[in-house]
Amino acid sequence: MDTPFSTLIRTASHEAHTEAETSTFMSDLLGGRLGVDAYTRYTEQLWFVYRAMEDAAQRLRNDPVAGPFIQPELMRVAELERDLTHLHGGDDGWRERVRPLPATAAYAARVEECARTWPGGYVAHHYTRYLGDLSGGQIIRDKAEKTWGFARRGDGVRFYVFEQIRNPAAFKRGYRELLDAVAVDDLEKMRIVDECKRAFALNTSVFHALGEEFPLSA
Ligand code: HEM
Repeated sequence: MDTPFSTLIRTASHEAHTEAETSTFMSDLLGGRLGVDAYTRYTEQLWFVYRAMEDAAQRLRNDPVAGPFIQPELMRVAELERDLTHLHGGDDGWRERVRPLPATAAYAARVEECARTWPGGYVAHHYTRYLGDLSGGQIIRDKAEKTWGFARRGDGVRFYVFEQIRNPAAFKRGYRELLDAVAVDDLEKMRIVDECKRAFALNTSVFHALGEEFPLSA
């Protein structure tokens, strides 16, 4: 295969990316049309997804396919927990109260399944989330700070702040090199691309569910 894998996966998921990016919920969130309760509910969903991603990370560290992608500077659960305590008014009892939407539970279950049985699939989910957070995530952070008055790069938006990644552009270049060097054959690369599309679709389903929970009273 002549095309570098990083290009292949980006091109193949381009359409799914546009769909996720332009979902009603994301548009309303970025348009500053939703309250902080919607942002909180969204952040809660991310907590379930990243717990599935990162609970598996330690176990996959030495895996020849997924291992190179596991990097401590990417880990987000601690940041999400800090944001959520802030979003719940400083009360950390939210852990017992929050529930995943069915779409979120399905997403987290798929991540867990890949982590347990298919490292290539885990790479697809890893790419979809972390490279996205390093890219469009920065647009969401900026908007959230302005809309709901969080301190710049502070509590409420720490999920979007990668303290240990000084140069995100360079990090993303390095990440793409890891993708290009992934230790699988061409057929498996195609399967990973398919799983990436599925990962985007799982994100879009969560957005649809959130959109139903937080409709704009037009
Ligand atoms: C409104 C929300 C979003 C905005 C504004 C946005 C914006 C962007 C932008 C500007 C880039 C390009 C960055 C670059 O070339 O370095 C990007 C890349 C990316 N985004 Fe998003 N995005 C959004 C939502 C999402 C979602 C929901 C996902 C998946 C869960 C996602 C996953 C990705 C990925 C994986 C990349 C990296 C593509 C690559 O270079 O291989 N994005 N996004």
